[in-house]
This record gives sequence, C-alpha cells and structure tokens, in this order.
Amino acid sequence: MEMKSKQLLILYATQTGNALDVAERVAREADRRACRVLIRSIDEYDASSLPAVDTVIFVVSTTGQGDTPDSMKGFWRFLLQRNLGNHWLEGVHYAVFGLGDSGYQKYNFVAKKLDKRLSDLGATAVIERGLGDDQHPSGYEAALDPWMSSLWSGLNEIKPDFFPEGPDFLVPIEELIGQPKFQVTYHNIDNMDSQLSTTTDFKYLQMQIGRARSMSSGKVPHEKSKPDAFLKMVKNLPLTKASHEKDVRHFEFEFVSQVIQYEVGDILEVLPSQNSAAVDSFIQRCNLDPESFITVHPREMENHLLDNSLTALDVPIKLRTFVELTMDVASASPRRYFFEVMSFFATAEHEKERLQYFASPEGRDDLYQYNQKERRTVLEVLEDFPSVQMPFEWLVQLVPPLKNRAFSISSSPLAHPNQVHLTVDVVSWTTPFKRKRWGLCSTWLASLVPEERIYIPVWFHKGLLPPPPPSLPLVLIGPGTGCAPFRGFVEERAVQSQSSTVAPTLFFFGCRNKHNDFLYNDLWLSHSQNDGVLSEAKGGGFYTAFSRDQPQKVYVQHKMQEQSQRIWNLLGEGAAIYVAGSSTKMPSDVMVALEEIISKESGAPRESATRWLRSLEKAGKYHVEAWS
Ligand code: 2AM
Repeated sequence: MEMKSKQLLILYATQTGNALDVAERVAREADRRACRVLIRSIDEYDASSLPAVDTVIFVVSTTGQGDTPDSMKGFWRFLLQRNLGNHWLEGVHYAVFGLGDSGYQKYNFVAKKLDKRLSDLGATAVIERGLGDDQHPSGYEAALDPWMSSLWSGLNEIKPDFFPEGPDFLVPIEELIGQPKFQVTYHNIDNMDSQLSTTTDFKYLQMQIGRARSMSSGKVPHEKSKPDAFLKMVKNLPLTKASHEKDVRHFEFEFVSQVIQYEVGDILEVLPSQNSAAVDSFIQRCNLDPESFITVHPREMENHLLDNSLTALDVPIKLRTFVELTMDVASASPRRYFFEVMSFFATAEHEKERLQYFASPEGRDDLYQYNQKERRTVLEVLEDFPSVQMPFEWLVQLVPPLKNRAFSISSSPLAHPNQVHLTVDVVSWTTPFKRKRWGLCSTWLASLVPEERIYIPVWFHKGLLPPPPPSLPLVLIGPGTGCAPFRGFVEERAVQSQSSTVAPTLFFFGCRNKHNDFLYNDLWLSHSQNDGVLSEAKGGGFYTAFSRDQPQKVYVQHKMQEQSQRIWNLLGEGAAIYVAGSSTKMPSDVMVALEEIISKESGAPRESATRWLRSLEKAGKYHVEAWS
C-alpha cells in the first residue's frame, strides 16, 4: 500500500490577503493540535502532485464577477483538463473554505466550483464546504468558526493519525507565544536616515519602501515591494456640494519620477501616509525606540511569499520608518488572534480575563460589538489594555500591514499626458457610539495641498475594464464614483474622434441629487452637445438617474429600461457593456435589468436572455469593476 505523508496540506488563493489570513488561522489551529501542516500559496504548488496528497484544505476567495484570484488561474486550468478522469483524485480527502460576498450574483463561485471539480475528480470531502460572506455583520469569521470545529472533528473521525496526541490535545498558548513568525535584530549604527516625507530622492524613498515591505514579506501578498512611480498632487477639487452628506473629490497628479504608460480603465494603487502623531503614539505606547536600527526576518522563510532578495532584508532600517511604512497602526478592528496574544501578555488580571473572553468562541459577539462595530483601531485597543506589553516581533506579526489602496483611474492619458486623475469618495462614518471615523487614504489625499512637495508612491496595474478600441460601441453604466473609469473612456474617445470615427457610446449615470452630487456634470453635458461622443448626433446618449430627487427611488437600471430599444440596437451592432461602482447590489440589479431588456426586445424567454448575457461575458464583452 502506498504511504501518504501525514501532513495536512493547506493551499490558499488570495487576492486581498483575507484567504491568507484564514489559511494561517487554520494552520495555527492545526499546529496547536499537534497536527503537521504545510501551507502554500496555490501558485507555488504543483497541481500534478495532488493525487499523492492525503488531505488538502483549500481556502479560496472569489473576486469580481465569480473570478478566481490571479494566483489560482494556472492551478484551475490544470484541474479542468478533461483527461484527468473521474478517478484521478481517488483516495484524496479535501475540505474547502470560500471567501465571498453575497452582494454578488456569483457568490463564492470559486469555492463552489472547486468543491464540485474535486469531487468529480474522485476526491472525498471531509466536511461540507464553508462559505464566508463579507456581507455578514461579522464578516467571514461567522462561518469560519463553526466550519473549523467541524473540520477538526470530521478529520479526527476519519484520519485520527493526524492527531498523534489524541483528539483533545491542544498546545497551551504559552508555548506558542515563544515562537512569533518574525525575528527582529537591533543594530548599532549611526543615524543616516533622512526624513521620509520631505526627501526628494525618489530612489532612496523607493528603496526604503521596498526594503521595509520586503522585511514584512508574507503580510502583503502579491504586491510588488517597490513603487512603480511617484506622483505629486496638482489639483484637489470637491465634486459635491459642501452641504451634501458625501465628499467626493477630483484629484489630479503629475509624475515626478519616470512616467508610466497606462491605459484607460487601469487601476492606480496608492500607499497612503499614516498620521505622524498616530505613529508616534504607537511607538511610545509600545515602549519602542524610534531611532533604533533594525532588520526583520521571517523566521520560516519558506512559508512566505518572497518577492524580495535576501540582501534587502540585511540592510538595517530605522524602526520608526519600518512602522510608518508597513504597520497600519490606525487600522480598524484587529483580528481575534490579536486579542488572544494580548491576553497572554496582560499583567493585570482583569485585563487578562477580558481579553481571554474576547478570544473565546463565547465572547465572539461581545468582541464584535467592541471591535468591529466600533471599528476600534489597533492603537485604541492597546490603550484600552495598558498592562499589555507585547514584544516588537509580535507586533510586527499582528498589526495589520499598511496596504495600498486601489482606485480606478479617471483620466485618459491621451487627453492628459503626464497626468493621472482619480475620483475619490472621502470616506467617513459614525460608529454606534458616535465616534467619527475616516478612511486613511482618501482622508490623507483630501488633506494634501496641490503643488506641495509630498511625493506619493504608486503602482499601476490592469483592472477588470479593458480599454475599448474606438470602433467598439459601448453601453457604460457607472453610478456614483462608478463614473470614474468612464470619464477616462469618454475623454479618450473625444480625442480619438478628432482624427477618426468612434463608435456610439451610451452612458448611464446615477447619483442622489441633481444639485448636490452630480459628479462631472459639465463634462458629461459638454460631450452630449453638438457632435460630442455622447451626443445623439454621434449615435450616443447620456442618461441620469437622480435617486433622491423624487419620492420614489430612480436608479440607473430604470433609465436603462426606458432606453431599452437603443441598448438592444447597440448590442445588435456588437456593443460591449461596462459596469462600475458600488458592489453592494448595483451590479446584480443592472444585470437583471439587462436580462429584462434583452428578453423584451428580442421576444425570447428570460432564460435565453440570461444565456445570451453569459455568452456576451464569455466573448469578453461584459465587464464589471465593483468596489465596496
Ligand atoms: P441611493 O443612495 O439613493 O440609494 C450612487 O451611489 C447612486 O447609486 C446613488 O444615487 C444611489 O442611490 C444609487 N444606488 C444605490 N443602490 C443602487 C442599486 N442597487 N442599483 C442602482 N443604483 C443604486
């Protein structure tokens, strides 16, 4: 009989890092049960060796419209091969946990199709798949806890030898506490660091960012450490009335380093600057020396995603710079594990008890009230439990990484050479206990004064909206800040129309009130007049839905229904549909409206319309970029 290794394999496919968090949590829990684990990003695993595996746990997220994360594409292609046959994975046990958002029609689609495919290939599920939902008040955690406890009991029933110490064995947290994932070394050298925020030496700044982020490698997955370029803000204009409940800004930036060639519909990622006072308070609260020089190494290099070289890890960096560039000290709602580790370091008994309770399954609802609902920041939590003094190694591991924020670019490089524009909702909200909270990146950008010497580190990449060729007729649907990429599309077409013919463009825009948040009102109207790209003369159209200007709600999909014939005709001419905006319900409501339109205009039943839209999607003519 073939001997299979008694090691639990955990494969994760993550886009934003959440699936990595979950995979690490499962790995930690397995560790505590003395079960041997191997955790890998799915793109680092050779799919052809799956039949040799005893038991494999998949943690996969679903992105956009039911797509696999980028890291899973190769693996999934391999699994879909017909010649594998339905016995290929016989004898292999598996479990799947998915992360998704039920606001999308294809909720947790990747987890579901992976589960089905594994079973079609002959593998046996240890337990039913778990599905985490972003829309749930406590997020994916709500489904994760019960799924994990069934996992351990299910696994124990069929594979008791995974647990050599028995089903009830749990390594006490005291033992684990001696093994943080990172190792910090202090160096005795002269102070050479210049002030980050005022340096004009981009290469130096770029290197520092690259260095700091490589050192905390594994925390921010699949992101290039070094920024592609640096930008300077040249315009900061409000697009909404001051009295309106929302503050949406138009930002214009210029390249101050090398110019990056981007296309309309691309994504700009920004590394925000943290509030200096918050960084200082954190350092003080944690009794750290901001001036000391450190190097940070992941303890188990092999378990991390390495896009860094060893040399980057060996050059010391100032502690304050490291914190500033990699640890999001004001980030909201630290994970439950943060509370668990804190409980160990608490020296005051009442604090210890409260933290232990928060970290326990019984305390989950109270932790949710205290932590998630109030969006308590890391710094506030640390201040609420003054007796806790965590070693820096643990802080490096547990404080959420300072992540890039992604925005849809709202300019056309043809219309604005050397510039990039963004359309940004400055995020703020009030918690149940009436505390005002602000989004880190949007608030920071809104606070910048144009032409100030602040250099903004950015990365460019492709999003889900490919740039349309001028000959492609378009139906664009972009309510609210969803209009951002389409501003780029329209501007680009306007430039192209000066030298060639462009196909017709219909644009559906929605906002609350005509007089408060009609973003880029003048721009759309000017392109709708005379022979602009949105004008009737050019076969185009611009339609607005002001949701709150009348007693009943009017949304973009209602305006689309009114133009059903025009949409149908344009689809007949080979038009592509682009949808952008808030992910909550809009994209699926728009899809339903389109099904109705197609069914009504073609006279075909609803199911045929649905199939027709699917084929449009398959043909690369239905694109959705949604954000929450
Ligand atoms: P509301 O805030 O009045 O509900 C941009 O956010 C615009 O999109 C707003 O006018 C908003 O309306 C509207 N909106 C909200 N939910 C929507 C949905 N499901 N479909 C289309 N538009 C929606």
